[in-house]
Amino acid sequence: MAFCHTGDVFTPLQESAVFARQAEVYERLGMRAWSEGIVPWRATTCPLLAEVEAELIAAFDVDVRAAGALAPDDVLTIIDVGAGTGRLGFRLAPSLAARGVRAKLVLTDVSPSNVEALAAHRQLASLASDGLVTFEHFDALSPTPLGDSGTPVLLAHYLFDTLPHRAIRVTREGGFEGLVDVGQEPWAWRYQPAVVPEALTARGEGTFLLPVGAARALTAWRDCFTGPVLVLSADKGVAPRGPTEDPLLARHESVSAGVDFDALASMAPAFRHLSPSTPSDVFALHAFVSARGETPNFGEAWRRRGATNEVLGLLERFAALLKTDPSVDAMFGVLDESRADPDLLAQLAGRLKESALTSSQATHLVQLLVRAAQQHFVFRQQLDVPFTLAITAHHVGALELAVALYLLSLQESGAHDSTLLNLALAQHALGRHGLACEALEVLLAHTADHPRARALLADWQTALEA
Ligand SMILES: C[S@@+](CC[C@H](N)C(=O)[O-])C[C@H]1O[C@@H](n2cnc3c(N)ncnc32)[C@H](O)[C@@H]1O
Repeated sequence: MAFCHTGDVFTPLQESAVFARQAEVYERLGMRAWSEGIVPWRATTCPLLAEVEAELIAAFDVDVRAAGALAPDDVLTIIDVGAGTGRLGFRLAPSLAARGVRAKLVLTDVSPSNVEALAAHRQLASLASDGLVTFEHFDALSPTPLGDSGTPVLLAHYLFDTLPHRAIRVTREGGFEGLVDVGQEPWAWRYQPAVVPEALTARGEGTFLLPVGAARALTAWRDCFTGPVLVLSADKGVAPRGPTEDPLLARHESVSAGVDFDALASMAPAFRHLSPSTPSDVFALHAFVSARGETPNFGEAWRRRGATNEVLGLLERFAALLKTDPSVDAMFGVLDESRADPDLLAQLAGRLKESALTSSQATHLVQLLVRAAQQHFVFRQQLDVPFTLAITAHHVGALELAVALYLLSLQESGAHDSTLLNLALAQHALGRHGLACEALEVLLAHTADHPRARALLADWQTALEA
């Protein structure tokens, strides 16, 4: 129902074009949404979250097999709904396999071009050829069953915030529906009397965003599958808004709204909601378990790894570290905690290079760099992570690792002069003079006027001929 008066286009928020157009916007943006930092993706695809989720999923797997919902030969289906870049899947699939979980991860999106991009990604295609990953189109709001069993895990990261929200204002005078005109800048709001939804009756005065799209999705997912369903959702939460304030939505080509998980839980009574022990409007993982059967192992794993909101703790400690002049051991502490997150290591690389390292610290750094390189998802973004890691490895004398990382950088970010020059120097230091000259020749084919490359090439070629 649209509340259109003469010349007005005020519409209830959940029916607004901004939500109807989300799929189209993601289709148009393609991978630019993440490579250009238009929408956030680091926290929901980081190695620590992949580890936490692997542990939670492994526990759920034990429960559903013990309850007979999955036969011993059945494979647990894990559906990443709105998988974005696919980076979480890249980290999660091996982590599940390492825990012995018989699972197939289905990377899905509503945007067909995103599904194509996922399937074409070299590292994901390699997991697919090992039978760990598949790719499918999937609309969160009109789901079709995927996988062989009726017992899935669905991952919904930064998804519920993009699905339709309803705006409700509660004042002493009663409830009001928020109507929005998104054609005006800033958006214009009007409020129309409405019954206060049950999810908000205990809240008192304020302006609220009800995640009605997420509630629809949860109900549809439960109806779509015959067995127990586990949903893991990491997202931002909501900050309170007063009864005279308009709702707050983030606008970044697409739109997103903080997710009111408590309201969502009361709108999805077929699920048990497990929330973080300390509420956060910044970032938290939530779980929804459909009430078919008991899940004692999952409950225990949730208390240990889910409720503690480890990813937020890590991000807060990392942000605090950047504001200080941290010791090498303090940096290592956070990097170990991050499970050698390549993004975080790249941000600390400059400080680590400037630090005088003991030999055991140098060994620790190389171990972190090796783990980071193994976990790096090749995806062109604003910071050339492999290059930053490569020069750090080069600096501490880990030349083989440096070469591998320079090659990764060339693949991801293209043939930059500095990458080729450093690659040549590392190859030369390893005694691979032919490969070193080759790297310089590629550089000079791009940039003929590069005196240092030209001088080195002349020296090295003379030495080769001698
Ligand atoms: C903010 S991104 C999050 C991507 C990824 N989960 C992450 O955390 O980086 C939202 C994703 O959801 C997808 N999406 C939007 N609406 C959807 C829907 N109705 N069904 C399935 N996916 C949807 C978008 O195409 C996009 O890939």
